[in-house]
Amino acid sequence: MGNLSAMNIKYKVDHMNGPAKPCTVIFLTQDPGNLDQRPELSSFRRIIQPILTTEAFRGEFLECRAVSNAQVDCWLILVGLGKAEELSEGRLLECAALGVSQAADLNVKEVFVAVPPLENFAPGNILALLVLGGKLGAHRRSTFKTDFSPRDSVNLKTITYQQIGSRDPVEKAQHTITRASVMADAQLEARRLADLPANLLFPLDFAEEARKSAGRRKIKVSVWEEDKLAQEGAWSILAVGQGSSHPPAVVILEYQGRSASRDPIALVGKGVTFDSGGLCLKPAESMPGMKSDMSGAAAVLAAVSAAAELHLPQHIVGVLPLAENMPGWKAYRPGDIVKTLSGQTVEVVNTDAEGRMILCDALTLAQKYKPSVIIDIATLTGACQVALGDKLAGIFTDSDSLCSRVVDSAASVGERFWRLPLFKDYEANLKSDLADCRHMAGRAGGAINAALFLKRFVKPKFPWAHLDIAGTARRSEKAPGSPEGATGFGTRTLIKYLIDNQDAP
Ligand code: BES
Ligand code: ZN
Ligand code: ZN
Repeated sequence: MGNLSAMNIKYKVDHMNGPAKPCTVIFLTQDPGNLDQRPELSSFRRIIQPILTTEAFRGEFLECRAVSNAQVDCWLILVGLGKAEELSEGRLLECAALGVSQAADLNVKEVFVAVPPLENFAPGNILALLVLGGKLGAHRRSTFKTDFSPRDSVNLKTITYQQIGSRDPVEKAQHTITRASVMADAQLEARRLADLPANLLFPLDFAEEARKSAGRRKIKVSVWEEDKLAQEGAWSILAVGQGSSHPPAVVILEYQGRSASRDPIALVGKGVTFDSGGLCLKPAESMPGMKSDMSGAAAVLAAVSAAAELHLPQHIVGVLPLAENMPGWKAYRPGDIVKTLSGQTVEVVNTDAEGRMILCDALTLAQKYKPSVIIDIATLTGACQVALGDKLAGIFTDSDSLCSRVVDSAASVGERFWRLPLFKDYEANLKSDLADCRHMAGRAGGAINAALFLKRFVKPKFPWAHLDIAGTARRSEKAPGSPEGATGFGTRTLIKYLIDNQDAP
């Protein structure tokens, strides 16, 4: 099993306007009027203009029309971008995914994508987003159906991006394509892992996936299994894992680029392979999606792999705490007092707040590497999902500069984060009479309380950001470029953050 399609598609750029192509994707903003200003459309103007004039196509966001033209024997796929002033990176990516997906459904082997000239987009980023969207749109995930065959995947072999009028050298565009393509593959890999059913991906299976992925690249892996976790004193991770017959583990990934001697960037990802809630069992309806409660770990694994693939200069450490949260005769209980790797003791209130229990130990471990920055990513709280929905993820940090760097990198690849506060007055919510703290408080301010709990385990000298992707890690309905299910959200953000901060200390 694996992702079978879209693997071998070639991505190219072309600066010339040759003869009519068998299939071309064309992007139009809403009510585009006169097409004279669109050099990339010159060969199609005669065909498109009448469709626009009769208003058979208005260019609304995600409006899509495949037009066949017998005269020149080609397909034109028109995709609406919506109003120019409302066009965002995420929208452009979705439009690209829709166009290429349509082309794939028409069973063509080759598709040309006319790169639109758009104001307000960073140079090079239009192409990057079209490639990202194209790759996601061409992808068809494999399934466990007994009659599934690779033929269910797409026939597309080449996607050529036509950048008419661009003065960029082809090599530069090719570099943009490489980055975008590695980023899309990483996201698809994170999605594949997060979509795997929990009976096929226990913590040690995830560790094995990490070993395989790192083994193909210049990444060192070590896996701390139960004995080592006990020896080191990571009792908080062990507590969460003890209810399951499948033991917990921590994977440590280390990638050393050119600047290997620099302090590393630490990425920490929550890896709960299934979150039943433990003894504080979740209601049946909120359980199926919990096979994706390792989406943070998947995003980190995919991002570190992508960094190695792109030969980024940084030194990166990825820490993936892995556990299955199950009820059982050995399970940890409400009221238990747990000694964490940091030495702090924690009073357990609700076993369903397990993510923070494994993350606190992972954060402590990450700090042993004296990182220049720590970013953790986790499907941490239902409260964050309620607050921000499925298109915005939460970011918590005391550092304004780290916040804007993450938010900006994310936005440039079409992922959106909204800053939530590490509000000091709520720190008192975590007071315990019996231990150094308790791991949660009431329902109110749930996402903030969780972030404040994690903050207790990060020394103030380390710049740290916490990303809560509970709402964005899965989607209930398909959208262009993603089927329903795991999204791989956060993977692009982490990779783009690494690309954008190659010179940071
Ligand atoms: N994995 C869940 C959070 C989650 C909820 C992720 C919805 C994705 C979608 C987490 O472990 C959890 O159960 N959190 C509890 C915490 C509560 C008991 C304090 C929650 O949010 O309800
Ligand atoms: Zn939980
Ligand atoms: Zn969880």
